[in-house]
Amino acid sequence: MREQFPTAVLLTGVGKRHDIVSAFARHAFTIAADPNPLAPAQYAAHLRVAPPRIDDPGYVGFLQALVDEHRVGAVVPLTDLDIHVLAAAPQLPAFVAPVAVCEAMFDKYRTHETLLELGFPSPPTVLPGTEPESYPVIVKPRQGSGARSIHLARNAAQAAFFVDYVDEPVMVQRAMGGHEFSIDCLSDLDGRCLNAIPRSMLESRGGESIKGQVLDDPELVDLARRVAEALGFRGPSTIQVFRDPEIGIGITDVNPRFGGAFPAPMFAAHPGRTYPELIARMAAGERIEPHVGEYRHGHYFTRWYEQLELDAELRPTGRPMDF
Ligand SMILES: Nc1ncnc2c1ncn2[C@@H]1O[C@H](COP(=O)(O)OP(=O)(O)O)[C@@H](O)[C@H]1O
Ligand SMILES: [Mg+2]
Repeated sequence: MREQFPTAVLLTGVGKRHDIVSAFARHAFTIAADPNPLAPAQYAAHLRVAPPRIDDPGYVGFLQALVDEHRVGAVVPLTDLDIHVLAAAPQLPAFVAPVAVCEAMFDKYRTHETLLELGFPSPPTVLPGTEPESYPVIVKPRQGSGARSIHLARNAAQAAFFVDYVDEPVMVQRAMGGHEFSIDCLSDLDGRCLNAIPRSMLESRGGESIKGQVLDDPELVDLARRVAEALGFRGPSTIQVFRDPEIGIGITDVNPRFGGAFPAPMFAAHPGRTYPELIARMAAGERIEPHVGEYRHGHYFTRWYEQLELDAELRPTGRPMDF
């Protein structure tokens, strides 16, 4: 099986991201690493492996052995959890940003500070103890993901309540008005942005965007390209912004990994230029020319659940649900 493909990719923390794993499996021998035997996405891979915990000292060595055995050309994390671990292991062919950037992006307050230092717009944000400029505000965890524990507070008393209620470090950010957008980017290993594809976020659930539209929006394309290059991103990244009617664009979330609406850049990319195919080609040693802004726009995407039956030994039965 490995010999049918010019390269192999190793995807970590695949979880429910079946669409991503199956897209890679069309272009590379695909290995999925996830410790949970019921993580559905691993069943789209050619090979599934259960790694040790991310904080186990053997984690990187486990991945390295797979890289050596299968001649893996790209390691791509699909969650936030091990990005900084991969970034700190230069012996792995990981498509991740430099370690200091990964660590900063794992903390939304440090992300805010980094964006301002680089001259990018980020909404007014304070830490608990400092009075915000205005209300309403959003109280959100500094290390949150998947839209967990995010609360709107209309005044100081509500903000104080949520700061106390959320049982982890939080920050207090201006509640942005207007529409929310995401821009899905891909960068090469030299930090050049290859493409940036904006979409509207019409409906989200648990961190996944389930309805949206790919947009022709040169301002968002250019902003995302500049952010990705200023931060030195490598591999996929997603930048989220609001266009507030009063203060204009503010960047509210930066993820140095695949974002929560994988179908949008898949449908939008020109043939041969989907992000998994480009990553597989880079993993095989090819240099890809940047083509920022070249994509199809106007199309909507809408998403639903799919399912897989496994037998009592956790082997896929292959039974379609057509009865
Ligand atoms: N400052 C803000 N103003 C308005 N809505 C916000 C703000 N920050 C977050 N949100 C809402 O909460 C969702 C999740 O917040 P986000 O910062 O993207 O964290 P994560 O996706 O890592 O959980 C966003 O998609 C957005 O709808
Ligand atoms: Mg987000």
